Amino acid sequence: MAKRIQFSTIGGPEVLQYVDFEPAEPGPQQVRVRNKAIGVNFIDTYFRSGLYPAPSMPSGLGTEGAGVVEAVGSEVTRFKVGDRVAYGSGPLGGYSEVHTLPEANLVLLPDAISFELAAAVMLKGLTVQYLFRQTYELKADEIVLFHAAAGGVGSLACQWARAIGAKLIGTVSSAEKAAHAKSLGAWETIDYSHENVAQRVLELTNGKKCPVVYDGVGKDTWETSLDCLEPRGLMVSFGNASGAVSGVNLGILAQKGSLYVTRPTLGTYANNAESLQGMADELFKMLASGKIEVGEVQQYDLKDAATAQTELSARRTTGSTILIP
Ligand SMILES: NC(=O)c1ccc[n+]([C@@H]2O[C@H](COP(=O)([O-])OP(=O)(O)OC[C@H]3O[C@@H](n4cnc5c(N)ncnc54)[C@H](OP(=O)(O)O)[C@@H]3O)[C@@H](O)[C@H]2O)c1
Repeated sequence: MAKRIQFSTIGGPEVLQYVDFEPAEPGPQQVRVRNKAIGVNFIDTYFRSGLYPAPSMPSGLGTEGAGVVEAVGSEVTRFKVGDRVAYGSGPLGGYSEVHTLPEANLVLLPDAISFELAAAVMLKGLTVQYLFRQTYELKADEIVLFHAAAGGVGSLACQWARAIGAKLIGTVSSAEKAAHAKSLGAWETIDYSHENVAQRVLELTNGKKCPVVYDGVGKDTWETSLDCLEPRGLMVSFGNASGAVSGVNLGILAQKGSLYVTRPTLGTYANNAESLQGMADELFKMLASGKIEVGEVQQYDLKDAATAQTELSARRTTGSTILIP
């Protein structure tokens, strides 16, 4: 028996229960991992609330973690018992002492990277990797807009953009978050709780606007983000922290300058062992070189996952949050 967080009905953080469960024996291509640290992500709240449907109920939760391999399936070739590993793209069930997942979703963790650090960066850092290096390849001196720059993904994005030499304008909701984003390398910040974002972007870019906007806030920032793009610019809508973008009239892309839009997911970029490993290697290199650092993380016991989610949803966190089983 082991402990995990599960939910049987969708709803607020109160639906999360800390329960005993029988961990699955790994199938032929699966690996069972004893988690040492677990990442908390906004996507976890989408499954809990029902915005994204869980494949079955009751359901585990969480797609990011790091730990030690304790059992492998008969066809597993890349991992053995005792290996230090990490994952960032599911399947659901990471909020648990033990998680069984496909071999293809795991990477070996270099010795220099602690379990806590891995749990803080796997999903978020791999996301920044594909956003900046694949969805739109950021170049030095380009000015780009990135929403929620003091958050988990945002804190890593500020540092990665600085390493590239790009000028990241980060939106934030308070002076403290602005200072946090700046300290991590944001070129400028805009407090979208009271400033006019499109107007400020126009000023900061001398009227040119941005070639790309990275928007994980969703509903509340959708139209503003389009207003910050230069003609034929790319809108990367990668999340729904304020709610899902829906009912889009395609004509708006014409009106605002022949814009492009993509709605990417980590799952499609890291969709096989080879791409996942390549992306993780690049992330680990950024960490090893010190170009990306993970400062303080919010840390909770696994059983207190509901509190961790409450804090994240209430915008009271900066950087990453992890759970310790
Ligand atoms: N598509 C993908 O592959 C992928 C992968 C990872 C993450 N994501 C998305 O990236 C975004 C960031 O994820 P994260 O886990 O790192 O979370 P996070 O950024 O640490 O937390 C979300 C932040 O969004 C901002 N926000 C704006 N409006 C909000 C609202 N109404 N309610 C709550 N927060 C609001 C808050 O920052 P301020 O207080 O500064 O506004 C908040 O701190 C999420 O939308 C997530 O779904 C997408």
